[in-house]
Amino acid sequence: MIWDTHAHLDDKRFDSDREQVIRRARDAGVTNIINIGYDLPSSKRAVDMAMKYDFMYAAVGIHPHNAKECTEEVLSKLERLVQNPKVIAWGEIGLDYYRDLSPRDVQRQVFVKQIELANAAGLPIIIHNRDAHGDLLQVIMKHRPEYGGLFHSYSGSWEMAKELLKEDYYLSFSGPLTYKNARHSVEVATKIPEDRFVVETDCPYLTPEPYRGQRNEPAYVCEVVKKIAELKGLSYEKVAELSTRNAEEFFKIND
Ligand code: NI
Repeated sequence: MIWDTHAHLDDKRFDSDREQVIRRARDAGVTNIINIGYDLPSSKRAVDMAMKYDFMYAAVGIHPHNAKECTEEVLSKLERLVQNPKVIAWGEIGLDYYRDLSPRDVQRQVFVKQIELANAAGLPIIIHNRDAHGDLLQVIMKHRPEYGGLFHSYSGSWEMAKELLKEDYYLSFSGPLTYKNARHSVEVATKIPEDRFVVETDCPYLTPEPYRGQRNEPAYVCEVVKKIAELKGLSYEKVAELSTRNAEEFFKIND
């Protein structure tokens, strides 16, 4: 049993073989998949997939790249979407100062607004953070996600991880953990308490070894589980079980 807590199966790159990709995931032991929105259309597609497949869930939100397109109308449409019970988080939201595809002040405003909407909806948030640690921490200290926050594809330092864990955040590991140059995330995965991490693919992006260079897909989340097992000196089954329990705890899945 494994949850892929961050997938983009609505991506065009899955159009020709989506059903096979889903079957391979199930065969590999991926019991649940959360598709994540990054704008309004992808959020709608995530909800549609969650309605079609009982083992899928959805998160809806506006990615910092798309913050400049985020109008009041878009936000009110998202508010309507989250009324669907298969929407279990608001995301992915946050700050991206690496690509700077939206002005930074707009990114911050849209991030804050969505934290407030997630709080009003009773949902945890899925956080995207790239090269924006300082500002991001400032935002979440001031505007606390009341129902929890998950740092997706965490690649920061252990020092920062410790601060986040103290504030009850969860961290998620993805393909780059398996790369030879993964120093920070290797340290974090080794040291993180057993009850505070989940796993993800972020497919079609961030493909783990030994598939690096190809399109990523949910079945490959097993490589991330394998790597964490190796780092923590635990069995594969144990890490799969822990990551599942943590995902169900974080996303408040109780069935
Ligand atoms: Ni993503």
